Amino acid sequence: MTAEGTNTYNCNDLGFDGVNLIDEVVEVYGSPVYIYSGSIIEARASEVKLSFKGLNIDILYSMKANSNPYIVKFIYDQGLGIETTSPGEVYIALRAGVPPEKIYFLGNSVSREDLSYIVNWGVNINVDSIQSIQYLCELGYSGEIGLRINPLLGSGYHPYTITGGLESKFGILPSEVSRAFSLASSCNIAISRLHSHVGSGIQDPRVYLSVLEVLSELTKRLPSVDELDIGGGFAVPYKRGEPRFPWSEFASMLTEAVERLGLENYKLIIEPGRYIVAESGLLLARVTDVKVRGRKLIVGVDTGMNHLVRPALYRAYHEVIVVNKACMEDEVIVDIVGNICESSDVLARDRLLPRIEVGDVVAFMNAGAYGYSMASNYNLRLLPPEVFIYKGKARLIRRRQRFDDLYSLVVMDE
Ligand SMILES: Cc1ncc(COP(=O)(O)O)c(C=O)c1O
Repeated sequence: MTAEGTNTYNCNDLGFDGVNLIDEVVEVYGSPVYIYSGSIIEARASEVKLSFKGLNIDILYSMKANSNPYIVKFIYDQGLGIETTSPGEVYIALRAGVPPEKIYFLGNSVSREDLSYIVNWGVNINVDSIQSIQYLCELGYSGEIGLRINPLLGSGYHPYTITGGLESKFGILPSEVSRAFSLASSCNIAISRLHSHVGSGIQDPRVYLSVLEVLSELTKRLPSVDELDIGGGFAVPYKRGEPRFPWSEFASMLTEAVERLGLENYKLIIEPGRYIVAESGLLLARVTDVKVRGRKLIVGVDTGMNHLVRPALYRAYHEVIVVNKACMEDEVIVDIVGNICESSDVLARDRLLPRIEVGDVVAFMNAGAYGYSMASNYNLRLLPPEVFIYKGKARLIRRRQRFDDLYSLVVMDE
């Protein structure tokens, strides 16, 4: 994996500072295991930051993509703020050492109880509905908030990742903004930010400009607004040779739009999640079983959709590399299946790989975003450890679950 350009893997070094993924990772921490490269996170964060020289813009990392506290703090230390979606994420960001003023909360279907934590913790608040403003009034909150607007447009790589449009569950419609504003004013709450996030896996920068235009139009009715957040969702090259999001083109288009729309006095905000972490991470697993089925092999591994749900949930593609045979010729067509009792537990379909055998180690590439953060204990499989590699050193940043963790919340009758 290179820091610049699209993904290209050197078969002798998958891009982890020369750390040997079998001897120094799998043999030490076991399998399966998630690993992340600090230098790739650093490269992605600075690529995004440096694109916007001259623009008044804040970059928030959307921590739903990867909420490991060590990684959240590492990204905060790169100069990014943190975007969160639940009290749990806010709690983890605060505990990791991010100050409240650098944390932004935006949930959906948020309860009054959720908001009571958020208000107490003093982080920045965006609301997704008028009901949330009502809860804030009831909680006696008087300060600034942002409104998540549904600009009636959406975009994304799968229908499940589109978060705008008339029937979307997210945000406040432009036609509801006046009502939101009156309610907020009646409780001494000032609307200082408009926000929108219309989907994930967006390759075309013009989508963000369309969003900006909708928000810009609304500012005419809302003099208290001075921040415009146009969301995250910037596309990552999951497949070899796929283009990455064109940051410098986006920055020039944005600069031009700010001038054209007269938004020079507004602060802009973007909130990439996957773009910062996806390419930094991979999931290593061992081959446990090989079956011959027709013209292809069904290769079983010691992980599954419980650890990496994206293929089952979104039919997402993760490149697979057989780590101990990475320089060998591809010879067989395989499906790689997990160890979960579901037919949808297929991590990769119809891949051409070197002759693969029990005991080999496979890497699911670009798994740093929405990998561990979406993982579960389904089938009561244990969660894997997470290992961070930076400057040639590997360190454990979350231990493997143990069987007693599976029982830790259980209450049994005496
Ligand atoms: C409000 C909001 N902002 C940012 C993001 C980050 O999206 P991505 O990880 O695709 O950049 C999401 C993802 O769902 C989101 O809901």
